[in-house]
This record gives sequence, C-alpha cells and structure tokens, in this order.
Amino acid sequence: MPNIILLGPPGAGKGTQAKRLEDDRGMVQLSTGDMLRAAKTSGTEMGRLVANVMDRGQLVTDEIVIGLIEERLTAGDGRGFIFDGFPRTLAQADALARLMDRTGQTLDAVIEMRVDDEVLVARITGRYTCGNCGAVYHDTTKPTAKAGVCDVCGSTDLRRRGDDTEDALKTRLMEYYKKTSPLIGYYYAKGQLTSVDGLAEMDAVSSAIAKVLDRG
Ligand code: AP5
Repeated sequence: MPNIILLGPPGAGKGTQAKRLEDDRGMVQLSTGDMLRAAKTSGTEMGRLVANVMDRGQLVTDEIVIGLIEERLTAGDGRGFIFDGFPRTLAQADALARLMDRTGQTLDAVIEMRVDDEVLVARITGRYTCGNCGAVYHDTTKPTAKAGVCDVCGSTDLRRRGDDTEDALKTRLMEYYKKTSPLIGYYYAKGQLTSVDGLAEMDAVSSAIAKVLDRG
C-alpha cells in the first residue's frame, strides 16, 4: 500500500476518509491531532503545553509534532501510512521527507481535499466522535443510527471537541491559509499532488481517493 498525505482545512473530511482507508484497506492512520488530544488528557508536561494552544485553534510547535511522528514512524510493514493533519508547515514537510528517507520509505501521493470555507462551519459545529473507537459523526449528515450510541463499537462515550467552535474555527482556518496551504504548491512542484472534490458525498470522495491509490 502507498504512503499518503491527506491535506485540507479543518473539516475537509481528512479524518473521515482516513478511518475508511483503515477499515477498507488496512492502512495505518497517523493523525497528529489525535496524538495531541491523547497527550492533552494524559496529564503530562506536553499535554499541559499543548492544551491551550489547541483550544485556541493555533498550531502546536513543529518540534513537538515532528517528535510525535518520529516516535510512530517505524520502517513500515507494507500496510501504508495515511498522514492525517501532518505535515502542516514547510518545516514539517521537510522533516517528513528526511524521516521517510531515514526509514527507507517513499511518500507516494499527497491528496488535497478541496472544500469551500462556507461549508466548514456547519461541518465542524455539527461534528461528534466516539471517545472509544474514534468513529466520526455529524448531527445532520451522519448521525449515529441509535441516538447516543456509537454504530461501530456500541460505546456511549460520544464527544465534541473543545476547538469545534465558530471562534476557534476562524483561527484554525487562518492558521491553515498562512502556514499549511503553501504545502499545496510545495507538493505540486514535486509532482506528488492530486486534488479531489471534498464537497462531494462521502462515498464519492472515497472513490476519488481510491482512484489515486489504485493508479499505482
Ligand atoms: P486536527 O485534529 O488535525 O484537526 P483539523 O485539521 O482541524 O481537522 P479536523 O479533524 O477538524 O477535520 P477533518 O478534515 O479530519 O474532518 P472530519 O473528517 O472530522 O488538529 C487539531 C489541532 O491539533 C490543530 O488545530 C492544532 O492545534 C493541533 N495540530 C494537529 N496537527 C498538527 C500539526 N501537524 N502541527 C501543528 N499543530 C497540529 O469531518 C468533519 C465533519 O464533517 C464530520 O462531522 C464529518 O462527519 C463531516 N463530513 C466529512 N466528510 C463529509 C462529506 N464529504 N460530506 C458531508 N459531511 C462530511
């Protein structure tokens, strides 16, 4: 399986599609957002450091997130990594290239999920996730079949994120345009970028991503 990056603003659908790729193809999701949220609740020094930054919608330092990826990025067993929410700055992209090189792996595709800002408020403020298995839901577009119970694992621990507010979203979008969107040009210039329509239905987005993965 290829190693890929899912690139796009908050609410573009990166986590949703990464989970589908894990289920459908056995790929491995590496979400720096999930890693940082786990650190936040762990009571560690790093958790305290990142909590306020994340809740305000700002980016955590490159040093911290590169360290997290470095810990997880083993030599790979052919299942293929999905980088979800990483890299988010040019420094992180350069660090990823070095780490892949060092572990003898290649980055095979960067998939940009294109969406309009207008849909993001509704997507973000309606989102909830399962605290047990990480399944992603939405109040209107993807509610659980039974209210309050995760479809996948049956847990009743359904949560909303502290940074899923309209105010924090404004900061998150600004961070995206200032620091992350330059990666679109960076990967385009390297010949690795493919863009898909992130506004399409979830299944159509999955099909578009599958085409990129299957083109070899
Ligand atoms: P992170 O957790 O990475 O959040 P994000 O990038 O803001 O992305 P989201 O998780 O909000 O959205 P998504 O694209 O995954 O959308 P989803 O599939 O859930 O980062 C959080 C914070 O951590 C950052 O702000 C920063 O502080 C820190 N951080 C993380 N990585 C970092 C890094 N590398 N460097 C520095 N700091 C870092 O979908 C959203 C909703 O829409 C869901 O409800 C879903 O059901 C719905 N939906 C999805 N697809 C569709 C569709 N096609 N049609 C209709 N609805 C859809």
